[in-house]
Amino acid sequence: MEILIAKNYEEMSKLGYDVIKKVVTSKPNAILGLATGGTPVGLYKNMIEDCKNGVVSYKDISTINLDEYLGLDGNDNQSYRYFMNTNLFDHIDIDKKNTYLPNGKAEDRQAECERYSKLADEMQQDVQILGIGSNGHIAFNEPGTAFDSRTHVVDLTENTIKDNARFFDKIEDVPTQAFTMGISNIVNAKKILLLASGANKADAIYQTIKGTPSENCPASALQNHPDVIFVLDEAAASKL
Ligand code: PGA
Repeated sequence: MEILIAKNYEEMSKLGYDVIKKVVTSKPNAILGLATGGTPVGLYKNMIEDCKNGVVSYKDISTINLDEYLGLDGNDNQSYRYFMNTNLFDHIDIDKKNTYLPNGKAEDRQAECERYSKLADEMQQDVQILGIGSNGHIAFNEPGTAFDSRTHVVDLTENTIKDNARFFDKIEDVPTQAFTMGISNIVNAKKILLLASGANKADAIYQTIKGTPSENCPASALQNHPDVIFVLDEAAASKL
């Protein structure tokens, strides 16, 4: 396990980007596991800037995302597909055919979970970018999720709905269910890059890195991974 401490969000984003840049330049057809939320947006900005300057190309890169809200179409501006398009894919030279998220509108939920887990197995992320919830969740794997879980439908906890309400006009608009990769689909990645910024993540980071691995803190499953890098700003690292 490697832990890098950055001064602030900007430096965290830059250090995180350096990890991604190394993967993409050494393997131009790499598979990137991507995440949504506020945390990775600065890293995505670094990717966009270098791509616009011709330093890095994504034309042969494929991506697979962690999760998607249930019931939202990719054109819905609250869907994670829309988030990825507007925060990254629309601004780099990637072929969108090679970018994958769960289908939030899938009618057969079980079939969609099985399809997505199989896709994750086949793709096997060269590096998986992760944020972390203030309750220690990774993707939408809330406390209590089994470490051997695969893609499944989750009822979001009140805590997560509250955390995500800032992206919506009002809390009632936050979807209450999502498709999420399971913890086993995440730790199957060859390398994990977890980013965290802000004092509200400090307890979760402490439990993840220093706590005994337990389903009470889903991110603590990462302690068993052979190649994980934590890039934390000082506030998120303040309880270590
Ligand atoms: P955030 O979310 O990046 O918006 O803080 C992280 C998460 O909930 O996994």
